[in-house]
Amino acid sequence: MMKHTKLLISLTACLLAINWSQRASASEVIELEAAMGSFKFPFFETETPVWHYNSQIPGPLIRAQQGSTLSVNLTNSLDEPTTIHWHGLRIDNAMDGVPGVTQDPIQPGDSFTYDLELSEAGTFWYHPHFNNSEQLERGLKGVLIVDEKEQQPWSRELILFLDDWRLQKDGSIYPHFNTPHDLMHDGRWGNVPTVNGKVKPDLTVRPGERIRVRIINGANARIFLPELQGLQADVIAVDGRPVSNIFPLEQFYLSPGNRIDIDITIPENSAGKKFALVDGFPRNSYQLASLTVAEGPALKTPEFTVKTAGDFIPAEMFDDVAVSKTWDLNAFRGGELGIGWGMNQQFWPDADGVDFELGRPQKIVFQNSSARLHPMHIHGVFFRVLERNGKPAVEPFTRDTVLVGPRETVAIGLVPEHKGIWVAHCHILEHAEAGMMTSIGVDN
Ligand code: C2O
Ligand code: CU
Ligand code: CU
Repeated sequence: MMKHTKLLISLTACLLAINWSQRASASEVIELEAAMGSFKFPFFETETPVWHYNSQIPGPLIRAQQGSTLSVNLTNSLDEPTTIHWHGLRIDNAMDGVPGVTQDPIQPGDSFTYDLELSEAGTFWYHPHFNNSEQLERGLKGVLIVDEKEQQPWSRELILFLDDWRLQKDGSIYPHFNTPHDLMHDGRWGNVPTVNGKVKPDLTVRPGERIRVRIINGANARIFLPELQGLQADVIAVDGRPVSNIFPLEQFYLSPGNRIDIDITIPENSAGKKFALVDGFPRNSYQLASLTVAEGPALKTPEFTVKTAGDFIPAEMFDDVAVSKTWDLNAFRGGELGIGWGMNQQFWPDADGVDFELGRPQKIVFQNSSARLHPMHIHGVFFRVLERNGKPAVEPFTRDTVLVGPRETVAIGLVPEHKGIWVAHCHILEHAEAGMMTSIGVDN
């Protein structure tokens, strides 16, 4: 019996590895093809037409080593232009994937090679940056992991890529994008949440295992409040970077674009138990996935201290820095879609941008004058939240995306370290499509 279980476990692990992972070595080029295809959801008899990378939902897991150069050749087999943006990576501006800013859109039938110098390890993800609210929603997105040079002895890693879909009764994707309703509210929220493209998947773990869980929010608009019921979970990284102080996972708003890495240990005496990962954001929380603990003896729990990064843009760096830019976030009638979301009342590409000097600390304020949610994301930098509503609220970690709540004001500090034009936008993709995007030029 025991042997049987073990065999099953290793089989599953190996199936997962075959389906989902692609490891790049320095000399290899990863081929990605964006194309139309179909995907089977469990509740429908017919397949759902989707757009995907390499026929996979989510796209292939791309993994590479810190310090290596990763080359990804994207072929566009869609019938509209596309690009890929590597969310969270600090790379050469020309590889950032923003059409009209860092590159021309890749036309149908064309391809483009992205050369990514991976200086930092962490949990990242990739997605198009063209017609975003539709291309991501139809399925174009995937996880990118950069492994540390020095690996720590985790028993196992779990990757949980959260998403949601708005499906119709016949299984097809609701075909209207950027609707007035979505624009007036918090974007397009789906009716089918998925984890790694599956509905409420059950994952097998073993007693005693110490697991690094990487959770990524790849949804267009949905905010998740992940809770692992019955397990102690510590947040060790946010948006790909190690935290400055490890803290328990509690009320962490994982908005579109955000990632957290957490450290959990499966209790030794928990064989046969089930732990639920739930989303506590809606009034009625619901299950996203579960962890089932296999029968059998406990594994020895690895003992080690997770590395932190307390010295990376510490809050004190901004003590004597004046606010260099305030962006007021609000909606207005007009614009291409009838309702526009502005930053200082400007709609992208007519944006109120800013120019910064390389290496000089800057303070920025996002002031939400609306009653909606705005997860504000900046390309090419990490920043630290310093204040909320004028009061000190220093977070023990840096981010690339911060949720600005209704009528809330958030002050952040950042140090531009890479030249070029970096965009900043709301990661509720419908809001971004309606104009909520601007640019930060660095030594430009
Ligand atoms: Cu994931 Cu411009 O964003
Ligand atoms: Cu980004
Ligand atoms: Cu928004």
